[in-house]
Amino acid sequence: MAASGQDALLRVEHLSMRFGGLTAIGDLSFTAARNDITAIIGPNGAGKTTVFNCLTGFYKPTEGSVILTHEDGKQFLLERMDDFRISQQAKVARTFQNIRLFAGMTVLENLMVAQHNTLMRASGFTVTGIFNSPTYARANREAIEFSEHWLEKAGLVDRADDAAGELPYGDQRRLEIARAMCTKPVLLCLDEPAAGLNPRESEDLNGLLLNIRNEQKIAILLIEHDMSVVMGISDHIVVLDYGVKISDGSPAEIRSDPAVIRAYLGVEDEEEAEVVVERAVAAVAKKPAGKKVAAKKPPARKKGGRK
Ligand SMILES: Nc1ncnc2c1ncn2[C@@H]1O[C@H](COP(=O)(O)OP(=O)(O)OP(=O)(O)O)[C@@H](O)[C@H]1O
Ligand SMILES: [Mg+2]
Repeated sequence: MAASGQDALLRVEHLSMRFGGLTAIGDLSFTAARNDITAIIGPNGAGKTTVFNCLTGFYKPTEGSVILTHEDGKQFLLERMDDFRISQQAKVARTFQNIRLFAGMTVLENLMVAQHNTLMRASGFTVTGIFNSPTYARANREAIEFSEHWLEKAGLVDRADDAAGELPYGDQRRLEIARAMCTKPVLLCLDEPAAGLNPRESEDLNGLLLNIRNEQKIAILLIEHDMSVVMGISDHIVVLDYGVKISDGSPAEIRSDPAVIRAYLGVEDEEEAEVVVERAVAAVAKKPAGKKVAAKKPPARKKGGRK
């Protein structure tokens, strides 16, 4: 359900990001509620990753504000914070369009590294603290248990001691999400987590995201092109085109919005678009074995075509 007013975990207000003459995001406002999966969709180059980069401190927005409100009422103005504080204090975690794991480390080590800050705090930031302190020993045990918890959720228990870089693609995607969850975020930002996954892996991913949504009191922001994932698991969808919001609502509202049909589905005809979307949604419901969901990918834009 779209959040409005006070129940919003995240409020993006009049956000703009310009690179020279190019407006990657123009006056964008939307909200994301706790316990919701909010999808951000749109054609290639629409500005989706740029939104994440502004939320997570990788870019300083040209204008606008991004307000995150914790359950205890504490507010963070993300556009004024650096990426480290956004992750540590505001508790925003993200994954990247291109997988970024520590490929040479084991799966378990990747999850332990995510808890590095908690462990360093427990050590009192000293080497003697690491070796002698009972506080550190207890924190280390808890970090291992927490890693094991997320290994189980991500279906990776059997791969705990394997190098992350040796995992199949779908496992790596779920490991990235498990690693993000090990930082105990209140907002989880996922940039195209289903890209390159086969139908079985997509299904596992949907299961993991729904489980996180149902069991953790956090919000998920999901950038995704795969309509079966978007329509199947999102509570709320924001549609961008050329950096501008063209639609915002429930999956049912989005799928019948002519502006979305034209811009995102890449088809002119509403009936044809409905068939594309219905097929994708039906595929999620039936979970066909070994068959790729037939959601139409939006057309790629020519580079340099925008000013
Ligand atoms: N650092 C940058 N410098 C200049 N232009 C940029 C920069 N980052 C993004 N852009 C431009 O901003 C626009 C939006 O890019 P962005 O990566 O946010 O799109 P996207 O919606 O994530 O696309 P895709 O679906 O292909 O991942 C593009 O025209 C891109 O070239
Ligand atoms: Mg992108």
